[in-house]
Amino acid sequence: MASRRSSSFESHELLDTNHNPHVKSNIPKPVILRGLVCILGACLAALLLLIFSIVHFNSFPKKSLHYSSDLTRNILVKKIHSHNDYWRDRPLYTALSYGVQSVEADVWYLPEQSKTDTLYVGHSLASLTDERTFQRLYIDPLSNILSRTNPDSKFMSLSNHVNGVFDTDSYATLYLFVDFKTDGDALWPHVYNALEPLRSKGYLTYFDEDEETWHNGPITVIGTGNTPYKKVSELRKRDFFFDSPLENLNASYPSTIGPIASCALGKLVGEVKEISGLDDSQYQKLRKLVDDAHSKDILTRVWDTPWWPKIKQQNIWREILRAGSDFLNADDLEYASEFM
Ligand SMILES: *[C@@H]1O[C@H](CO)[C@@H](O)[C@H](O)[C@H]1NC(C)=O
Repeated sequence: MASRRSSSFESHELLDTNHNPHVKSNIPKPVILRGLVCILGACLAALLLLIFSIVHFNSFPKKSLHYSSDLTRNILVKKIHSHNDYWRDRPLYTALSYGVQSVEADVWYLPEQSKTDTLYVGHSLASLTDERTFQRLYIDPLSNILSRTNPDSKFMSLSNHVNGVFDTDSYATLYLFVDFKTDGDALWPHVYNALEPLRSKGYLTYFDEDEETWHNGPITVIGTGNTPYKKVSELRKRDFFFDSPLENLNASYPSTIGPIASCALGKLVGEVKEISGLDDSQYQKLRKLVDDAHSKDILTRVWDTPWWPKIKQQNIWREILRAGSDFLNADDLEYASEFM
């Protein structure tokens, strides 16, 4: 009650003061002083805020100060193959963020379901959706990234080289494995045509059969799964290559058709029983196949390696690398990028 009375008294006093300027204020001095300090403080705070925002926004990099290819800056390129890349949270981008140089997309052509030539990407029928298409997950993002690493500028007109996706190594090509899940011959024209946006911009590596010359591009496409060997081998300006059988690199598989050869570990050396990894004869067998591929200018990838116990996986991975094999086939990209 007391406080309420005192406050009504104060407001009455204030009212009186306002109405008659000659009447000396009855407000005690410390209250005026406190009021002044408050106003001054507020002004100071506003001024500081203004100065801070001017300094802050001037020093903060504006969009115009970014450089075009900064998406992959600082990322070092590693010979890792992103197995079933599309099932990561961000297909392609997650792999690139770890410097992974090879990604794999499983493509399906299901004309009865779509009535269009849409290519679906997924591991199984259950994972397919209308939205997850080859174009949206791979072709469009790659076009977008490459238009950033090859900006349309007066400076780039001085360059006679098409940059790759990696800012730290613009000559590194990105291997795009296309795993044909449905009938190869039916899929072939659709996959080949789907690459047109990359092809027309000169983004695809190709081998010219007539001139017998390589033209390195930012993307090297490798068909695997049901990819029809005949269609690939018949291309004269070949910008679509074949994932050759590492266990059987005969004369049908020159590097100009298959610049990479792959095989499941078990098929190459049999079952690895020991937790310590390959035994000596298995290691020698692997080493010989890898050396043979390298003598033909073919890179290698060994897949389907044991993943558990972890120590077994590590021992086998070390031996695969010690044997000189090129691409580490990985499901856990973060782990693989640290392992290297
Ligand atoms: C190479 O091996 C494949 C089987 O992988 C066979 O179809 C082909 O005829 C062989 N080519 C030669 C030149 O021996």
